[in-house]
Amino acid sequence: MSDTLDYLDIEGGRNLSGTIRVSGAKNSCLPIMAASLLTAGTSYIENVPRLRDVFTLIKVLESLNARVDWTGSDSLKIDTIDVNRYEPDISLVRQMRASVLVLGPLVARFGYAVMPSPGGCSLGTRPVDMHFDGMQSLGAIIEPNHEATVIRTDNASKLHGETIRLGFPSVGATENIMMAASLAVGTTTIENAAKEPEILDLAEFLLSMGAIITGAGEDKITITGVSELHPSKHKVIPDRVEAATYMIACGITAGNIKLTNVRPDHMTATLEILSASGCRITTEPETISVDAPDVIRPVDIRTLPYPGFSTDVQPPFMAMMTKASGESIFVEKIFERRLLVANELVRMGAEVRVVENCALVNGGRRLRGCEVNAPDIRAAAALVIGGLWADGRTRIRGLNHLYRGYEDIVSKLRSLGAMVEEGAAPVNSISEASGA
Ligand code: EPZ
Repeated sequence: MSDTLDYLDIEGGRNLSGTIRVSGAKNSCLPIMAASLLTAGTSYIENVPRLRDVFTLIKVLESLNARVDWTGSDSLKIDTIDVNRYEPDISLVRQMRASVLVLGPLVARFGYAVMPSPGGCSLGTRPVDMHFDGMQSLGAIIEPNHEATVIRTDNASKLHGETIRLGFPSVGATENIMMAASLAVGTTTIENAAKEPEILDLAEFLLSMGAIITGAGEDKITITGVSELHPSKHKVIPDRVEAATYMIACGITAGNIKLTNVRPDHMTATLEILSASGCRITTEPETISVDAPDVIRPVDIRTLPYPGFSTDVQPPFMAMMTKASGESIFVEKIFERRLLVANELVRMGAEVRVVENCALVNGGRRLRGCEVNAPDIRAAAALVIGGLWADGRTRIRGLNHLYRGYEDIVSKLRSLGAMVEEGAAPVNSISEASGA
């Protein structure tokens, strides 16, 4: 534990305006970085955001003896020729659940992987049973031990193709099975597969490595295994969740902003809800402009697997609806504890009632700045959005979460006119600092 606790101070009440460039997608570059393990050689990945989750996965790859270098402001060179270890550093896997994405590539290429039981997080238990079940369906042997689980093939034989029906369209499980099946003997079909744009982006990278995949982005993906894959290069798609976050920040501040390097076609559900709230949206193939009214209309949101409304965009929207004139309903169908942010918004004066996986937000009364704590990445974003509108200063702690998912967020917000300051206070001075 560091002897200081970082925080962000936001002075509310400024209307955001201006143009920002959206960064590459965190949830696309992470599986693509893991996929580089499927071959021995050097791959190049462009449009990679400088995020703490990316830095963590780089350390995970280096713990397997890969060499990873930044070759420019947003490009990675990953050399996997000397990878000879199959147990990613346990402490790193515990830091970030997405580390489980090295499982499929390791088992497919080396016939062996050791995965620590990933810790839960504030979103809930976050099991990986579907990941392990998928490997087992492809012929791997699963040997759970106390601290970790060994996943291996018998006598380093190859995985074999199989038809796998997912009980839930898990993004990570779809990605791990797709990667592992790329080197299996025979054909694999994933039924009830996740359809997120990040699945399509991973499939594009795998195809460029020589994989044979059809149906990515639909609920049935077919992968015909090949004997080996070759290194490749790929440009990561824009981050649709980051883009949504800034559009919502504009929405709560009656702002007027333009986003570049963005894919409106990846954000249909978000754009529909933003329009329903009263924002005027203009889109071109790679830009989105948002002009937000002073009075916001309440909305009803139910999170669903893609193309439904994204669970990652729900907390920022909850913050925005504290300003709406009326009651908004949020039904969270993906993560059991995704509504945690409501507690912190209530500390800021919001009227939010949570009943099981539903939250009722009775908007209209201005939030008041105070000290709040972020329990996860998207909750942190929601508190930033609340602070942009709140009366007075909001001090947000738990910045590690924010910096895991939002590249250069302070400079991007400042470029749109927000008054944001980073700070660090020694832990023992918290009582003074909490006078906010
Ligand atoms: C990915 O997480 C994203 N992370 C999440 O974004 C996103 O919220 C989530 O997909 C849903 O869209 C990355 O891509 C790195 P899931 P993932 O497997 O793959 C349950 C962010 O803030 N489940 O689709 O972990 C699980 O508990 C992050 O950027 C099992 O029960 O999500 C959850 O309830 C947060 N067993 C549901 O399925 C499993 O083996 C959806 O999980 C796997 C998942």
